[in-house]
Amino acid sequence: MDWGMKNRLSKLFQKDGHCFFMPIDHGYFQGPTSCLEKPAETIKPLLPYFDALFCTRGVLRSAIDANIDKPIILRVSGGTSMVGKDLANEVLTTSIEEIIRLNVAAVGLSIFVGSDYEKETLQNLAELVNKCENYGIPVMAVTAVGKETEKREARYLALACRIAAELGARVVKTYWCKNFEKVVEGCPVPVVMAGGPKCETEHEVFEFVHDGMSKGAVGVNLGRNIWQNPNPVAVAKALDAIIHKKASVKDADDIFKSACK
Ligand code: 5RP
Repeated sequence: MDWGMKNRLSKLFQKDGHCFFMPIDHGYFQGPTSCLEKPAETIKPLLPYFDALFCTRGVLRSAIDANIDKPIILRVSGGTSMVGKDLANEVLTTSIEEIIRLNVAAVGLSIFVGSDYEKETLQNLAELVNKCENYGIPVMAVTAVGKETEKREARYLALACRIAAELGARVVKTYWCKNFEKVVEGCPVPVVMAGGPKCETEHEVFEFVHDGMSKGAVGVNLGRNIWQNPNPVAVAKALDAIIHKKASVKDADDIFKSACK
């Protein structure tokens, strides 16, 4: 592996090999998502807790201070919306020149395995890997399911993650599911868990993150369950403890409660 690739990956993954990515890219298909209307304000109190920020070039340029000391993962797929015909019909939105100009640590794009646009989105991944590998920029593939949330089970997610890795993704982001070890075991590159829509309680979030980490995930890329919570800093502190400090679910509950006081 070349130095540039190694250097970028070392910024994303901490010395323990784990990572806490903070996604604020939702606007690219959802518009002004609740609690993300002003992205700079949303992330300000959370900065001490996450390791990298996942966003589009538009939010990066308009809302994020160029002095930020966190690596950026640039969302480079899009072109569809919640109100359009099919969320899966994504294209690559960002050129390799722009990716380099923005000096990002990695790029992320969605693939929609099993959808009508499976081939196109896998082609997007392969093309992006071809371009980014030339410059030592890691690609994170997001195994997206659009509105078909029933697809979030181990057999499907294992298939999608493995395909992403085979096509050259350096990191794969996928949903936590029951029997998550089956997803991780079949994927030769690091697996990061996405959050999904807000859970009923923080405890549920701590449980699935802890379970996923114990089954081999390297970390999370978790947004709404943090910044849509009335106590986002308390959730972030508790998650940081699970991801980087080997905290149990009970420890996380206690950290959350004491941070809310
Ligand atoms: C959208 C994304 C988001 O980054 C991802 O959904 C993670 O955010 P959340 O935890 O809110 O689901 O890739 O396609």
